[in-house]
Amino acid sequence: MPIYYNEDSKEFHLQSEKVSYIINILKNNQLGHLYFGKKLRHRDSFSHLYTSEAKANVACVFEGDLSFSLDTSKQEYPAYGTTDFREPAFQVLQENGSRVTNFVYKNHKIYFGKQKLAGLPATYVEQENEASTLEISLYDDLIDAELILSYSIFEQFSAITRNVKFVNHGKGNINLTRAMSASVDFFDADFEMVQLSGAWARERHVKMRKLESGIQSISSLRGTSSSQQNPFLALKRPDTNEHQGEVYGFSLVYSGNFLAQVEVDYYDVSRITMGIHPFDFNWLLQSGESFQTPEVVMVYSNSGLNGMSQTYHSLYRSRLARGKWRDQERPVLINNWEGTYFDFNEQKILEMAEASKELGFELFVLDDGWFGKRDDDTTSLGDWFVDKRKLPNGIKGLAEKINELGLQFGLWFEPEMISKISELYSNHPDWIIHVPNRRQSHGRNQYVLDFSRKDVVDYIYGMMAKVLDEAPISYVKWDMNRYMTEIGSALLPADRQREVAHRYILGVYDLYERLTTEFPDVLFESCASGGCRFDPGLLYYAPQAWTSDDTDAVERLKIQYGTSFVYPLSSMGAHVSAVPNHQVGRVTSLETRANVAYFGAFGYELDVTKMSEEEKESVREQINFYKENRNLLQTGTFYRLISPFEKDGNVTSWMVVSEDQKEAIAGRYQVLGKPNSGYERLLLKGLRDDVEYKIEGLHGSFYGDELMNAGIQLDQAVSGSLQWGDYTSQIFILTSLS
Ligand code: DGJ
Repeated sequence: MPIYYNEDSKEFHLQSEKVSYIINILKNNQLGHLYFGKKLRHRDSFSHLYTSEAKANVACVFEGDLSFSLDTSKQEYPAYGTTDFREPAFQVLQENGSRVTNFVYKNHKIYFGKQKLAGLPATYVEQENEASTLEISLYDDLIDAELILSYSIFEQFSAITRNVKFVNHGKGNINLTRAMSASVDFFDADFEMVQLSGAWARERHVKMRKLESGIQSISSLRGTSSSQQNPFLALKRPDTNEHQGEVYGFSLVYSGNFLAQVEVDYYDVSRITMGIHPFDFNWLLQSGESFQTPEVVMVYSNSGLNGMSQTYHSLYRSRLARGKWRDQERPVLINNWEGTYFDFNEQKILEMAEASKELGFELFVLDDGWFGKRDDDTTSLGDWFVDKRKLPNGIKGLAEKINELGLQFGLWFEPEMISKISELYSNHPDWIIHVPNRRQSHGRNQYVLDFSRKDVVDYIYGMMAKVLDEAPISYVKWDMNRYMTEIGSALLPADRQREVAHRYILGVYDLYERLTTEFPDVLFESCASGGCRFDPGLLYYAPQAWTSDDTDAVERLKIQYGTSFVYPLSSMGAHVSAVPNHQVGRVTSLETRANVAYFGAFGYELDVTKMSEEEKESVREQINFYKENRNLLQTGTFYRLISPFEKDGNVTSWMVVSEDQKEAIAGRYQVLGKPNSGYERLLLKGLRDDVEYKIEGLHGSFYGDELMNAGIQLDQAVSGSLQWGDYTSQIFILTSLS
């Protein structure tokens, strides 16, 4: 078992093939942190990694002892209020007003496997020997409360997961005012912090900054994980790049408010803390109750950012995503949203479906506008019954006709929302998230249903289950189009109002759990105004997510590149849409739009009936190409080659390689044509040195070592087209000759 405990040195060593993580029990019986990084040979004691020498001007724990201060100790789950002046991982408010605690080591358990987290998404194992778990119990005897820190280390992935459970065994109440999922103290601050930041239509752009003394953080207080900041942060060494060097990734498996911060102290120790945002959070723990934090997935790589991402990809694809669709090739879909918006009827949809079938599509998705009286975005959310004016034969009738054409049928919902112009609102005005006697702000004319209430979740479950039961629906797009304001719930007492934001997310997870269990064959795709809630929490229920409403091929380069830092290609909905593009007005070729969208869960989002015969022929070929290579594109090892965030951002490149390294597909994209440009080559990655590859369209053959070190000579390979023209792209298809 790769978790060691040494009774004498009081140290825990979690060790896998590539990673070590070492914890010790400190002099005051709290938990200290000794090491996280490249695998170390196990030995009886790592106490030499720990110093407790006296430092000047510190507050000390024991009377008469100037050598022990928490301020200068590296810790696992630091507490507030006693000799450590940095931000803590948790804070407990007690009935007497005290916030001081003393959680000390009581006992621990080590076992094969990994426990589920009650009500929360988390990575999992299928066989017990895939991971080992260490649970350390800390007790505060004065308040009779327990803190259980859980760590799981995977055999196969360079990943360690962490979560914390608080249990109130005492008679009184306690309040958690801060309950982070993980905290790690690094030895130094020689790092750059990597984050995925953005906004609607420009989600998950890669940003990097050097760590500086003090606190640097990213967060969301929007009620969802958000497009502004993704719940992910990495610390990389300054010389680490895509292909080499050390990087530590931290990814929070959660879809609500979060905080990820690094505090660099006066000795350049970097403390990273991640979890539910403590601002406006308070959890009342009554006698006998417990609170479970979400999981943090920590990844260590010494093969650069690609190494980190590849670990996240394989872990999230195979041990976070679940269900029938986890391992299944995703259907090529056509969605009517940008083709019709709200303006459609059964005849129009059937015309589109018929034309789509002829081109090779597999799934037709009917987006927003099929229910209530929804002719625009001002009405009907919550009224999940069909609008017979548009669809006289109901969803069932339409779905059956689409099935008869030979296509599967998918449907859009926005389960968490309500319009004031709706039957649901007339019957239940108190079902929205709101604060009595205060203004109720809207977003896109809509309001957020109070999913902290079980009766509300039950009702929406009933409505959705009815639709899914009655019609042959193979796919659901679960949208969510606004952030939360005036957060309050009509059912909860005053001292639980600051629980609403988290309870809401638990309600979302509950609904997802019930629907995915009841309808295991349905493929769920999450969405939030595009990619405003693209996070690991939702991947547990919905194995794919709509990456962005921005379908422009050039914008997508940055969005998909950034998203790939954590999320696998199979999770990234990527569609070809019409030009001029509806988000930025840019005109790019159909070829470039497809060349970008291939690197994701591929589909289209336009009215095929409006395409010329020539365009249709291209679409047919594109779909054929994707189907032929879908397995590789969805599950191959993904390498980012050239970043749109570096240099002038004019060129982006990436590739996928099959597990046996015999096949690969690379994409290269150029934003603007350049006059009289020099020689260019594209260096590939992930191939086998000694394997001879053929590249479709190029003369001769090439060994892997040539392609990875000398590269494809582009000016020869694709004569002229690289320098010539804007928004150009090439796809290179490699097949081994042996
Ligand atoms: C936002 C989504 O991102 C779009 O794809 C579309 O489904 C609209 N909502 C529908 O209102």
